[in-house]
Amino acid sequence: RQKIIIDCDPGIDDMLAIRYALRSPKLEVVGFSVVSGNVADYKGVNNLKEILYQENRLVLPIHIGRGRPLNKFFRDAEDTHGQYGLGYFSDYHQLDKAVAPESASEFLLAHADCTILALGPLTNIADSYLLNPTLAQSFKIISMGGNLYEQGNMSEFSEYNYWVDPESAKLALNHLDVTMVGLDVTRKLKFYPEDVVDETDLEILRFYFEFHQKYENFYGAVINDPLVVDYLLYPQDYTSQKVKLDVLTEEGEYRGQTIVSQDNDYRLNQALVTVSDINKIKARIKKQVLN
Ligand code: BDR
Ligand code: CA
Repeated sequence: RQKIIIDCDPGIDDMLAIRYALRSPKLEVVGFSVVSGNVADYKGVNNLKEILYQENRLVLPIHIGRGRPLNKFFRDAEDTHGQYGLGYFSDYHQLDKAVAPESASEFLLAHADCTILALGPLTNIADSYLLNPTLAQSFKIISMGGNLYEQGNMSEFSEYNYWVDPESAKLALNHLDVTMVGLDVTRKLKFYPEDVVDETDLEILRFYFEFHQKYENFYGAVINDPLVVDYLLYPQDYTSQKVKLDVLTEEGEYRGQTIVSQDNDYRLNQALVTVSDINKIKARIKKQVLN
């Protein structure tokens, strides 16, 4: 089984990705690091505990990091994911579980042999690089974030994860081994009310559907993070480009935009750009995560 660590900001689509990974017989989830993103990290930790409880995996360790972007202010995405991060869900269990004493970056560095599935802003990844650049360069990271051809979801140019902490995204993409699973592919995967059978899942996803109705004009939702897991399991169903990736950090409308760089010092990475058959991908994800 392939060993992975999930760095996440749960979050509705994070929840689906986490389920997908935990339920795959091919993957061994070693632990989690939580980053502030969709919601502040302490809320993300609560959501993660609830998810792990539901999946009977509450023993897995949870680590947290600095809890805010490398630089400047933090902006959550509670408008997209709900006040607590799981849509209209509020029926949390009282779970007796503490976060682990090691920081997120210490944990990631101590398990540098694991593939990192990064489902949120790249803050914990950048912190690992700042702590130990040599070791961090051996990381294999699959990151949901960015966009090369599709338009952004925070602005016309930028995607949320890279926009909210562009300094971290830039460090990670310039220097580390990252496969970028951006909006170019994730925008193709959509769930609709008829895809959801479980009532609690519907309570969670309904918020996401309403958000998309308001801002994207369809009653359904773009499901981003599970494609990171799906790519790890079925890379043959995706096509990618080898590129040097960069993120614009200057203040202004382009802040957070992903671009292809000509800089010779930067590392060559991969950006996924298309999928062979989104219906096939959707069917297998649905089967694993919505039942
Ligand atoms: C990304 O931002 C978050 O809202 C989602 O969880 C996903 O990781 C999409 O832009
Ligand atoms: Ca996420």
